[in-house]
Amino acid sequence: MILEGKLKKYKILITGGAGFIGSHVVRRLVNNYDNYSIYNLDALTYAGNLENLKDIEERPNYTFLHGNINDETFINSIFDKFMFDSVIHLAAESHVDRSITDPLVFVKTNILGTINLLNAFKSLWFDNWDGKKFYHISTDEVYGSLDDLDLFLETNPYKPNSPYSASKASSDHFVRAYGETYKMPYLISNCSNNYGPCQFPEKLIPLFINNIIDDKELPLYGDGNNIRDWLYVIDHAIAIDLIFHKGENHNTYNIGGFNEWKNIDLIKLLCNLMDDKLGRAIGNSQKLITYVKDRPGHDRRYAIDASKLKTKLGWTPSVTFKEGLSKTIDWYLSNQKWLANINSGEYMSYYKNQYSEL
Ligand code: NAD
Ligand code: TYD
Repeated sequence: MILEGKLKKYKILITGGAGFIGSHVVRRLVNNYDNYSIYNLDALTYAGNLENLKDIEERPNYTFLHGNINDETFINSIFDKFMFDSVIHLAAESHVDRSITDPLVFVKTNILGTINLLNAFKSLWFDNWDGKKFYHISTDEVYGSLDDLDLFLETNPYKPNSPYSASKASSDHFVRAYGETYKMPYLISNCSNNYGPCQFPEKLIPLFINNIIDDKELPLYGDGNNIRDWLYVIDHAIAIDLIFHKGENHNTYNIGGFNEWKNIDLIKLLCNLMDDKLGRAIGNSQKLITYVKDRPGHDRRYAIDASKLKTKLGWTPSVTFKEGLSKTIDWYLSNQKWLANINSGEYMSYYKNQYSEL
């Protein structure tokens, strides 16, 4: 059981807390649970940004630890020092296109880094797992690509198609295996595509918002008919909080928005919302849509059946897609400095390489 009001605070290690989803999870737990000490471990790769957490960095129940999950010695040392009661593991290389260019980085962080955490956690608590849990945050992409009618269920076989999803699938298997072999208490959730404030502008929605602001081409892969199921990031953070506290040990939960969109339709909606907010003629930004060569191995459709989470734990998304998209656009429009800081250095050379045909 999680201790409340005891002298020793319950310590939760959140990995990847300076990233997109991690920062929303850290903020939620720091704000909602004074009885926890929240430790945010992040290597601050190109995707990690402490600006995402400025509002909570001075809070007494929050500590930032700068370090890499691939560094086994460092990981063991912080587990020895702080004796974390639980782990919520989000740190990962997360972008499919980068995984196609450089799969090994994904193997190192997503697989080996996860194993370093599992080993350190096991060494600490193997004799008595009481009140401990390892919560691994994963993706629906491990299930592969869907035909028109099916939905991903927790019982679906894994069929990852990209180096990214293969590395996440592998880490999911290791977490489950530690649960079976060492009786480590664990939870896994597999979520659909997230969008919202603080997402790095290499993913579809923030990239296209950024390009529309700058009047740049919108590079749509293939025929634009690929389908994704979109969830507002704060709804993902709410689900993670709920699963961490109420999820059943040794269980997997799918999280999704019940919200499937073809890329081309989503982009047209985004263009029109942006035209409206920027005072441009409706239809203007759609002219920026540029079909480019398809992503290799591009999964056709993802769609989550989140009914287990809904019926067992009572979770449903709190915002509609239009509301979430509108809030997201507003955030990017009023955080131009955040974008400007990113639009330099490593990211621009990635962009030039990835979109060389534009
Ligand atoms: P992100 O790329 O925005 O952030 C990843 C964070 O991990 C960054 O802060 C980065 O600095 C940190 N990190 C990377 N390598 C590290 C290492 N070796 N050691 C320590 N820290 C490291 O990713 P995100 O979109 O916030 O995704 C977070 C998690 O959620 C990932 O595990 C991802 O697979 C999963 N997920 C993402 C989505 C999505 O749509 N973005 C959907 C489902 C699941
Ligand atoms: P992305 O945001 O990279 O997420 P994922 O590949 O994990 O689903 O891409 C979402 C969809 O948008 C996917 O079908 C690929 C497509 N896409 C483009 O058409 N153009 C782009 O420049 C990017 C980054 C993605």
